[in-house]
Amino acid sequence: MNNKALAGKVAVVSGGNGGVGSAITTRLINDGAQVAILDLTERQDVSGGELLSIACDVTSPESVERSLERVRGAFGTIQVLVNAAGILGPVASAVEIDVDAWRLVIEANLTSTFVCCKAIAVEMINAGYGRIINIASVQGKEGTSLAGPYAASKAGVIAFTKTLGKELASTGVLVNCITPTAVDTGMFHEIAIERRADMLARIPMGRFCSAHEVAAMTAWLAGDQCSFSTGAVFDLSGGRSSY
Ligand SMILES: NC(=O)c1ccc[n+]([C@@H]2O[C@H](COP(=O)([O-])OP(=O)(O)OC[C@H]3O[C@@H](n4cnc5c(N)ncnc54)[C@H](O)[C@@H]3O)[C@@H](O)[C@H]2O)c1
Repeated sequence: MNNKALAGKVAVVSGGNGGVGSAITTRLINDGAQVAILDLTERQDVSGGELLSIACDVTSPESVERSLERVRGAFGTIQVLVNAAGILGPVASAVEIDVDAWRLVIEANLTSTFVCCKAIAVEMINAGYGRIINIASVQGKEGTSLAGPYAASKAGVIAFTKTLGKELASTGVLVNCITPTAVDTGMFHEIAIERRADMLARIPMGRFCSAHEVAAMTAWLAGDQCSFSTGAVFDLSGGRSSY
């Protein structure tokens, strides 16, 4: 008998090609899940029956629906959704950002989360079981100068997680989010060195988060051990945002 924590579970990971998303994908597979990545490009290095990679724009309901049909055809009913797709957007003062740049970030980070949740939640409700994990950010709690659309989008992800968690609380579908501080991977490398030093100075543990730490918390939230938390915000900030 396979007694891995996520044995028999089917998971969808948006943004699974990215730094954080690929660490989450690897962890969920190691814990026994079958994982489908939805990301802008299809991965060419996929082998083994437990991973499916699908090119998908997760801001588009049509693209997501098409992709989910393939996931269901290959793996069956989906029990776990991880929303990790996202972009950093412009590093500039809010008064300098044009509305198209603003919309792009809100679409990629917040609308995509709504679209994927909406597309998968109904089958979870019907099955009486599901785990949704949204990757937000500490910036959504604090607001960050020079990252207005990003911080606002992540605050939206936090509020949407709380809302959906409450709406689905009695259905067996748990909805939670994680608020990491800077993770030393992926979009973090788009941030200027001086800005990174400032970010590091605000983390009491004196180091950045690792993608493996995000993956470990995601794996716990994706499994049966997580049973009485929903609409909750899980901190991963090394003591920075202790609220
Ligand atoms: N790296 C950090 O410092 C950090 C900190 C806190 C939260 N986060 C969050 O973690 C998540 C992953 O970040 P990362 O550092 O791995 O970034 P990343 O750039 O490495 O990965 C993001 C992935 O999302 C995909 N993506 C973007 N728009 C998409 C779309 N419309 N459709 C499908 N896929 C799309 C990209 O192709 C990419 O593979 C993001 O939501 C980010 O906001 C990151």
